[in-house]
Amino acid sequence: MARRPVRGGAELMCADTLATEIDGGGNVHVWCARLDLSPEAGEGLHALLSPDERLRAAAYPSAVQGTRFASTRGILRQLLEQVTGVPGRAIQFAYNRDGKPSLAGDLAALGVEFNVSHTRDLAVVAVTRGREVGIDIASTGGVAPIDNLVARFFSPEERVAVAKVAADGERQRELFTRIWVRKEAYLKGRGEGISQWVHLTDFSHATDHSATDCSATSTPSRPDRDQDAWDVRDLRGLPTGYVGSVALARRIE
Ligand SMILES: CC(C)(COP(=O)(O)OP(=O)(O)OC[C@H]1O[C@@H](n2cnc3c(N)ncnc32)[C@H](O)[C@@H]1OP(=O)(O)O)[C@@H](O)C(=O)NCCC(=O)NCCS
Repeated sequence: MARRPVRGGAELMCADTLATEIDGGGNVHVWCARLDLSPEAGEGLHALLSPDERLRAAAYPSAVQGTRFASTRGILRQLLEQVTGVPGRAIQFAYNRDGKPSLAGDLAALGVEFNVSHTRDLAVVAVTRGREVGIDIASTGGVAPIDNLVARFFSPEERVAVAKVAADGERQRELFTRIWVRKEAYLKGRGEGISQWVHLTDFSHATDHSATDCSATSTPSRPDRDQDAWDVRDLRGLPTGYVGSVALARRIE
């Protein structure tokens, strides 16, 4: 279900914005936007940022990266304005120990949960209510070797799945990336980000590239993890060359 999430000066952004409502996933709304905007649209989004966010944008090693960060935050603020009714520039964020942002102050009581991922010129934002959420996207066009990452961060089952398609390098990289974004979406949902637990997650069971539901119910969770308490689904409708996943807690504990 496509909707226009922004208004006014950011109209240019709307043309590249799509939304996916994940049916059966508990009404998590996933928005996707291109970040390389016109200078006017970029400035409009930058104007929504808080002083600390402007400092962060200025600290990026390149202007392009800083602008993409600022645009992502501006888009997030506009989306949260629509959900909360509070002007985007007035929204305040709190951060957990590992850096996951959430709504701060009185807005925290609304139960609005969100998460963001951005890579290259693409950003996605997942917004829901009452349940923790994590999202991750990645480009399948990377060139760095994957062997070391698979060895360090993939479960034994994931390693087997990746090894099975070793004869087709392109397919193997896509499978690697799909598994990676599932793991990262789940860990971001938990608020940890990539941590020492990453190799304990296992999303090997949805190895069919056309699969869109990799709900973890079919995989017993590791003793110290709660993977089976989450729906983790591959995102549809991303631009060619990108894959993504969204993880939604079945309930807040
Ligand atoms: C969160 C993390 C996974 C981001 O990875 P990434 O692929 O570079 O970035 P993504 O675009 O997917 O996500 C970044 C967004 O996730 C959100 N985020 C930040 N920390 C987060 C966390 N711990 N959990 C969930 N979401 C987080 C922010 O909105 C961030 O956007 P911003 O950079 O515009 O502020 C990574 O920074 C991480 O693992 N952090 C945890 C702690 C840490 O620094 N560990 C060091 C490595 S062991």
